Order: sequence, then C-alpha cells, then structure tokens
Amino acid sequence: MAASVFKFVSVSAAALVGLYATFLGLLTTQTFQRHVVYLHKIQMTWFSDLDVPETFGFLRNQATPFILKSSDGERLYAWHILPLEIFRKHELALLEEPVELVSDFTSKLAFKLLREDPDARLILHFHGAVGTVGSGYRVPNYRTLSAGQPGKIHVLTFDYQGYGRSSGTPSENGILLDAAAVVEWAINTAGISPSRILIFGQSMGTAVATAISNQYARQEPPVVFAGTVLIAPFVDAATLVSTYRVAGTIPILSPLATIPTLFKALQGFIRDKWSTKDRIAQYVRANEVNGESYRLTIIHAEDDYDVPWSHTPELFWHAVNATVPTGISHDELEEKRSEIKTDLGAAGSVMEW
Ligand SMILES: *[C@@H]1O[C@H](CO)[C@@H](O)[C@H](O)[C@H]1NC(C)=O
Repeated sequence: MAASVFKFVSVSAAALVGLYATFLGLLTTQTFQRHVVYLHKIQMTWFSDLDVPETFGFLRNQATPFILKSSDGERLYAWHILPLEIFRKHELALLEEPVELVSDFTSKLAFKLLREDPDARLILHFHGAVGTVGSGYRVPNYRTLSAGQPGKIHVLTFDYQGYGRSSGTPSENGILLDAAAVVEWAINTAGISPSRILIFGQSMGTAVATAISNQYARQEPPVVFAGTVLIAPFVDAATLVSTYRVAGTIPILSPLATIPTLFKALQGFIRDKWSTKDRIAQYVRANEVNGESYRLTIIHAEDDYDVPWSHTPELFWHAVNATVPTGISHDELEEKRSEIKTDLGAAGSVMEW
C-alpha cells in the first residue's frame, strides 16, 4: 500500500513537472501567450444576450448596445449607459423605443441626451482581461460611476478586439487603436470636450487608460482629459506575470522570475509589454512641460490577489519622480510618506502629490 501511494505521488509529480514544462514552452508561442495574457475567449456571459442589457439589470433602454469602428477595421461592441436621473426625466419616450443592437446609435434618444447636454460628463470605461462588458461586477460598477452625478454622468464601455462580440484578436497595438477609436467617437461623434471626459481603467484596462492618456497628452496640440482613474494597475506585463498567483496562492512563474537571468528572458519573450511605469512617467512629464493641469488617481485594494498591491506604490513613485526635474529617489519619497499620507483606518490610506 505504502509503495503504491509513493508510486502514485511520484508519477503525478513527474506529470506535473512535464505539464509545467509544456506550459512554459507553449507560452513562448504567440497564440498561446495571447490567450494566457488576455484571456479573451473566457466570456463569462455565455448564456446571456448582451444585446438585451435589461437582462443584466438595466431599465428598458437605459443601456444601448451599438457598434463602433476602429481605424484598423475592427467592429467594437459597445454599451452606452444613461444615468438614472436622466432616464427618469425621459422615461416615457425611452420606453417607446425598441430594444435592439442599433446600427446607428446617433438616431437614438439616449445619444441625443448625451450630445445635446452641454454639461454632460462621459466616463470611458476600459475593462480588465477576461469577459465582456456584461461580466461580473462590471455592471454594478457602471451604476456606481454614474451615481457620482446621476443627472450628468454617462458611461461608455466596450469590448476590445477579440473579446465578446468584437471582431479580431487582441494585441497591445490593436487595443490601443480600439481605445483611440473610442476617444475619437466621444470627442467627434458625441461632441464631448476632453474636459468633460474621464478615462477609467480597471486591471488590464489601466494599462490601456494610461497609454491613451499619454498618447493624447503628447500629441500636438496636447489633449488632457478631466482625469484618469486607474483601479488595480500594474507596473508592466512581465512584472505582473512574474508576481501572478492563481487564486492568490499558486505561483505560476514567480519561482522562476526570482532568478534575474530567467526574469530577463521572461521580459524578452513577453511580446506585449504594457509598460505603464514608463507611460505614466511620460504622461506626467509631458503635462509638466506643457504646463497643463492634470489629475491622475490610483486606487488599489491591499488584499488584491490578482494584481498585488505592491504595483501601486511603485507606479506612484514613477509618477511622482516625473514631476521633479532632477527626480526623487525611492527612499526620499519614503521619507516624505509620513507628511503626505492620511490614514483612514479600515478604509485604507491616501497619499496625495
Ligand atoms: C526619475 O527622474 C529622473 C529625472 O527626470 C530621471 O533621470 C530618472 O530616470 C527617473 N527615474 C526612474 C526610475 O524613472
């Protein structure tokens, strides 16, 4: 008995090592790496119809599904969500319209309510990896966002190329074109000035939100949005992959990534770098040089097990460093911590620069 248990254990261990080696080998191929990084085929909303947002808990025609075109020819699936107070004011007219995926969103009342209010605010929501616009806590999040001003704040959310019902396959360059298409739609089609647009990203979406804020801040003439909010951001893709643990416990690559040569190799074979630490610094520097006022907010749960909290103080330092012409060292910032940190007890702490 003891012998057979031992044999079973050793066979499974060998099988696991073999599987792990296969996994690492596959990870060097572009297609497999894409699936591991973006998890875009895991939809989570398989049994619901995204074209009927009511089934996700919205009022009839509070959310409108429509298609946006990106400059590389992809069809991006989007939802526009009306804030409750505006819905209430126009309820009867909204209820009369059919519920459908519209080919021309500009013909709908919801669009007019966005475009024709000179005081409307628009949040561009960049979701994380896995799933669709309708997955998990994303839907209650949209409502939370517009609750900030229920008569003003509209939300636009969409699926990146290769996700949900959007066409294509995800890549860093492609997703950045998607983000630019959404911003262009907001400014040019919906007619919302950048000062009334907030860029909001969560998890993988923070890398998109930072990149797009940076791209617009550095263009000529520069465009700065009302703000950029990053929820659970990460330093860059290689650092995230190397700190990632399945369900917060099982490390995938972290045992290997602690060896510097192997970490370098890992950085080399991860194709899409998503270097938020570089982009956040470029964004801050560009605004400082241009004399533009800008607002960047980073929020992170200390017990986040997908994206470890340690990424946030690192990014905060990169951003702060870029505000100081001669730079500021990690230790110098640590020394200033006590002056700039407000402890909020169980609600966490806040640092403002
Ligand atoms: C911090 O800022 C200084 C000055 O701009 C720069 O030379 C340095 O590379 C920055 N440090 C990091 C880690 O980016």
